[in-house]
Amino acid sequence: MDAFAPTQAPAHARGALADAPWCTWSNEARDLVTAFAKAIGGMAEPALLTRPVGPNHDVTYSLPVDTVTDPALREGLLALAEALYHRPLPEGGILLLSGLSGGGAGGRAMHSLLALLRDALSALGGDGSAHYAPIAPAEGARSAFPLHADLFRSPNLLSVFDDVPADDSGTPVFLSTTRLLTLIHDQGSMPEATRRRIVDLLLDRSGDDRYDDLFDLLHGTHPWTYAIEKRMHAARIALRLRPGEGYLVDDRRWLHGREPQTSDVTSDRVRRLTFASATMNEGVDALRRELLAAAGLPEAALPGHGVEPHRGPSDPQGDSSA
Ligand SMILES: [Fe+2]
Repeated sequence: MDAFAPTQAPAHARGALADAPWCTWSNEARDLVTAFAKAIGGMAEPALLTRPVGPNHDVTYSLPVDTVTDPALREGLLALAEALYHRPLPEGGILLLSGLSGGGAGGRAMHSLLALLRDALSALGGDGSAHYAPIAPAEGARSAFPLHADLFRSPNLLSVFDDVPADDSGTPVFLSTTRLLTLIHDQGSMPEATRRRIVDLLLDRSGDDRYDDLFDLLHGTHPWTYAIEKRMHAARIALRLRPGEGYLVDDRRWLHGREPQTSDVTSDRVRRLTFASATMNEGVDALRRELLAAAGLPEAALPGHGVEPHRGPSDPQGDSSA
């Protein structure tokens, strides 16, 4: 089965990220998700597990697949997880999603679904390869979140929006990592070794937590930060996403962030699942070459990563949510 099927872009989102395809649940997946939403009344809530992954990524929701007692529904949900695991992202590394919460699958049902998929995808990709972390709330006045990559251990990042303001503030923003490195190179003040370090961080899936390191190089106290943040801001692509909409991206290819929101950001604003896929390492060498070229770097340069990133107050909300 396919998890998703092509659909039209919602009217409010047309024009932004015009090259990215829009999908919704496939008919089969939608039937499963609707049946699951009806069945959750008697089920346990997802539990929070603590895992020693890193300061930003150490907690995940979990819901064992055998919580679903109906064998056909359970098998169907496992097939949905398999479809996600085997479905490669399109070449551009971004898929935009709509209509995910139809059939009663918003709110708690989507929360339980993502927790269950987390467990099923962890079984497919290896323990710790899938992660569904709570999002930290933020005050509206301080709710902007600069462009960043989450850099979880697995690069597939699925975000499903729920509690978003009706005025479309708090708009998600995107910037491809190729564009990022091009504008950094064009700006000219970041040392070559630091540009190489950014490429290495984007591609590092060693399991170490690299989120703070990359955030610091982009937004910390450095001679280049002001000029580069200004260019990132000018180049960002804003995409209004409403409840039941979202995206699946390769976190190595796309930075994401959040414009300021007029109201407080709640923990239900967006639900975020990261997971491994069978094909995630295909094309990584090509991506490395693409990123190095964008950064103006030769493929074989001297080893070493230049500046040692310092850990400052770069992440005011205490997580990598956006
Ligand atoms: Fe994030």
